[in-house]
Amino acid sequence: MLFFFLFILLGHACSVRPQDQKFEKNIFILAGQSNMAGRGGVVNDTATGITTWDGIVPHKCRPNPSVLRFSANLIWAEAHEPLHADIDTNKTNGIGPGMAFAHSILAKDKTFGLVGLVPCAIGGTNISQWERGKFLYKQMMGRAKASLQNGGTIRGLLWYQGESDTEYKEDAELYKKRMDKFFSDVRDDLQSPLLPIIQVALASGLGPYTETVREAQLGIDLLNLRTIEAKGLPLQRDGVHLSSAAQVRLGLMMADAFLQFVPSPGPIRSVATRSFSNLTSDYFFLPFVTFLIIILTFLYS
Ligand SMILES: *[C@@H]1O[C@H](CO)[C@@H](O)[C@H](O)[C@H]1NC(C)=O
Ligand SMILES: *[C@@H]1O[C@H](CO)[C@@H](O)[C@H](O)[C@H]1NC(C)=O
Ligand SMILES: *[C@@H]1O[C@H](CO)[C@@H](O)[C@H](O)[C@H]1NC(C)=O
Repeated sequence: MLFFFLFILLGHACSVRPQDQKFEKNIFILAGQSNMAGRGGVVNDTATGITTWDGIVPHKCRPNPSVLRFSANLIWAEAHEPLHADIDTNKTNGIGPGMAFAHSILAKDKTFGLVGLVPCAIGGTNISQWERGKFLYKQMMGRAKASLQNGGTIRGLLWYQGESDTEYKEDAELYKKRMDKFFSDVRDDLQSPLLPIIQVALASGLGPYTETVREAQLGIDLLNLRTIEAKGLPLQRDGVHLSSAAQVRLGLMMADAFLQFVPSPGPIRSVATRSFSNLTSDYFFLPFVTFLIIILTFLYS
């Protein structure tokens, strides 16, 4: 009888091996146009018109075992720059804000756990193309939902878009309405009415109505939305794209904004988030069972 009981207990202890557990990722959707996809370090040979990435990865954008990326083929793997290489495939991708964002969060909150980045940005796109039901929106939602399959929670949307809506007065004036609709549709479809959104107020535009779009961005008033000011960050020679150094700074600012949403670590969070490093806590179960066995053996003898 006692042995049977011990057998059951041991069986249970062995069934909670860490490799059987899903990895709870803190998932972020990265969407928008070129400055979210990342053009830091992309140089344009004006003679040939050929663009190439210089391959320089800033220290804060290097791979880290706690930062994963959801590929175009819907596979999680350790993230590395350029994050959008297999997503924004018609363009040359470089450094964007995503890796610096992830690094900064992990540096400032040691208990945060795994970060999972879901790149979805496509260069040159206007906000109308991101409307619910259209290709980019469906693509993003499909990726967001698929990213949850092996465990995780969508913790936020990082959005940097609008340069393409600065060319025509009408688009710029309609930007606020379209942006409001986009954000509320995303929250609806993810069934996350208070999903944290970190958006960027434009540093540059493609047309004369940049200030109109910026006013819309700075004027939006939604719960759990923060707007990061990118104006003044260094641009590359094209006058449109943030440099790698600027992207790193943007990533840090976005991380600081996100961490303001995060409630102080409590028992619920520490169960929900799990990183490679805190898996060791599972091994506490085994000493506990051993202890129980010793006590029971003692009692029965
Ligand atoms: C590269 O530079 C050429 C010449 O200035 C320009 O026509 C072209 O649009 C640029 N390409 C990109 C991708 O910026
Ligand atoms: C690339 O360009 C082709 C042709 O214009 C277009 O059909 C496709 O959607 C583009 N893909 C991306 C990822 O922008
Ligand atoms: C948005 O971009 C698409 C594709 O370039 C274009 O067909 C459409 O007219 C643009 N819409 C607006 C409102 O600017």
